Amino acid sequence: MNATILSDSEKHYPVLLDEILSIISPQNGGTFIDCTFGQGGYSKALLRYNNTNVIALDRDPNSTIIAEKIKQDKKGRFSFYNKKFSEINKIEIKNKINAILFDLGYSYLQIKDPNKGLSFETKGKLNMRLGLNDFSANEVINKLNQKELELIFKYFGEDKDSKIISKKIVKERTKSDLNTEKLVHIINSVKKKSGKIHNATKIFQAIRIFVNKEISELIYGLINSTRILDTGGIILSVSFHSLEDKIIKYFFKSLSEDKKTSRYFPLQNNNNKLFKLLSKKAIRPSINEININRPSRSAKLRYALKIENIDNFEKDFIKKFSKLLEIENLSKKL
Ligand SMILES: C[S@@+](CC[C@H](N)C(=O)[O-])C[C@H]1O[C@@H](n2cnc3c(N)ncnc32)[C@H](O)[C@@H]1O
Repeated sequence: MNATILSDSEKHYPVLLDEILSIISPQNGGTFIDCTFGQGGYSKALLRYNNTNVIALDRDPNSTIIAEKIKQDKKGRFSFYNKKFSEINKIEIKNKINAILFDLGYSYLQIKDPNKGLSFETKGKLNMRLGLNDFSANEVINKLNQKELELIFKYFGEDKDSKIISKKIVKERTKSDLNTEKLVHIINSVKKKSGKIHNATKIFQAIRIFVNKEISELIYGLINSTRILDTGGIILSVSFHSLEDKIIKYFFKSLSEDKKTSRYFPLQNNNNKLFKLLSKKAIRPSINEININRPSRSAKLRYALKIENIDNFEKDFIKKFSKLLEIENLSKKL
């Protein structure tokens, strides 16, 4: 879901900003990486402190325009890359990094952009590309077979009607290619009446995750960030749906806890811990923040302090989510 939203009065509210600033203490200076620049809410807040430097990334080329302006205002303290955060390790970094921030999903401007087609209210051809993509939602819905669509809907959308919706899609598209309206119509015809959330929410979420390869982006974003971070640095991540949160929680928890080597032996004190968890529970927005910026209500912030450099730490993590990565790989057909 959506981290940075404009309120009704079109004001930009970066989610959980105060909480993030109190964790990473930019008042002490340092270099920070903003992996999801968007409209620059976090980057701008960090640059307000003296002696800070920010390196920002975003896959959406539209972010470049806002980034260019900041670059001119904050000469030498800000750099921007139109890159995916899974490639964070390919960026030239000269300073020690204090913290790396992820604010996942898409922004208000992106969901309102009819060219991106992220919303079920968009008209016309299916798209859902955030930027730097290999294929669009149009190819996914009109080319993948029934079983493949069902897997995407089930695992990435956790939609209980995945099978029947995918069957109907495959039947209906023999008449003509499906566009956004036709897809919403199919979903509505299966689900009959709307509950609390729009009928199409979960299916659209699933397609967006697949089109933007959000699972491997998150997995390799976390892995590669950890690789470039020095000990003493912090990784923070704000997520908006349970699938993302599950991945982040497992990553931080599994790499910060004592491991049991055998069920016959007690827990051994594992000196090879990569992270220290500074807070076991996810941080949620305050009632005040939710009142000002309603979409922030589903946000969860997790963070961890890197305490050790360890090789090959990623193996178990990748294995744990291999089923999701396998489903993402269905895109190789497109
Ligand atoms: C919720 S917005 C971030 C808003 C930002 N924190 C702000 O205050 O303006 C998420 C941003 O992450 C970007 N994004 C999503 N996945 C990405 C990825 N894999 N690599 C780089 N950017 C990504 C989106 O294009 C979007 O601009």
